[in-house]
Amino acid sequence: MGVETMNADERTSDWYEQDSLWEGTAQIIFSREALENAPQQVAQVLSLADLEPPLRVLDMPCGVGRHTLEFVRLGCAVTGVDRTAFYLKEARATVQAAEGEVEWIEADMRAFQQPGAFDLAINLFTSFGYFEDRNDDLKVLDNFYTSLRPGGVLVMDMMGKEIVARIFIPRDWDTLDDGTLLLRERSIHQDWTWIENCWILITNGNQRKFALAHRLYGASDLKNILVQAGFTGIRIYGSLSGTPYDQTAQRLVAVAHKSESAG
Ligand SMILES: C[S@@+](CC[C@H](N)C(=O)[O-])C[C@H]1O[C@@H](n2cnc3c(N)ncnc32)[C@H](O)[C@@H]1O
Repeated sequence: MGVETMNADERTSDWYEQDSLWEGTAQIIFSREALENAPQQVAQVLSLADLEPPLRVLDMPCGVGRHTLEFVRLGCAVTGVDRTAFYLKEARATVQAAEGEVEWIEADMRAFQQPGAFDLAINLFTSFGYFEDRNDDLKVLDNFYTSLRPGGVLVMDMMGKEIVARIFIPRDWDTLDDGTLLLRERSIHQDWTWIENCWILITNGNQRKFALAHRLYGASDLKNILVQAGFTGIRIYGSLSGTPYDQTAQRLVAVAHKSESAG
C-alpha cells in the first residue's frame, strides 16, 4: 500500500486549532498505555518537584484529564485547562465518576493565567511548541510563571530535539487495538527547529489524514526560554523518572522554579 506524502498545502500553521484533529487522533494520543501510565507519571512529577499533596495544581493543557484525575485522587485541588471542548467533556465525566472537584477551563494556553494561584504546574506529553511564533511559546511560559506562587514549580515533558535526531525514522506503521492501521510520516524543517508529522488512519478501508507539527526544543533551547520567562533553578532530565539527559534519554523533562523572592 502506498503512503501519500504530505504536500505543502496540508502543512497548517494552526493545526492545533482543529477540533476534528483532536477528535480523530484521541485514540492514539490517549491510548490504553498512556492512560495506564498516568498514575506513575504523577508520582514521578511529585518526586521531581519535591512537593507533597495536598497541592494546588495547574494541568495545562490537560487533554482528557488523565493526570488531573490522579492529582484529585491524591487530594489536590486541580485546574485543568485545554482548548478542546470535546476533551474537557470527557475529562469532566471521568473525574465526576471519581467524585473529585476540579475547575475545568476551556482556554488557549497562550491566554490563561491565574496570578499566584498554584504550587505546581504541569505541561506533559509534548504539549509545548505548537506555535509558529516562538514568542507564543514564551507567552505560555509567562502564563505558567505568573500562575505559580513564589516557590512554585513547573514540570514539563516533551520529545527533545536530541532524541528525535538519535531515533529519527521517516515512516513507520502500527495497528491499533480496534484494528485501525496507523501510518506515520515525519519530516524536519527550518534548520532542525520544526517537525511535521503526518498521521494516516485506515479503518475498514476508510482513510483519515492528520497533520501535526511543533517546534523542536533541545535541552539548551528549553533552558534558555525558561530563563527568559523568569524561571530559576532549572534542571533537565532524560525521563520523568529523573534519569540524565544524555545519549540514553527517552524524553526531555524540565523542572523549573519560581523563586521564593519573586514578587
Ligand atoms: C498531546 S495532548 C496532551 C494532553 C495532556 N497534557 C496529557 O498528557 O494527556 C495536547 C493537548 O493540547 C491541547 N491544545 C492544543 N493547542 C492548545 C492551545 N493553544 N491551548 C490550550 N490547549 C491546547 C489539545 O487539545 C490536547 O489536549
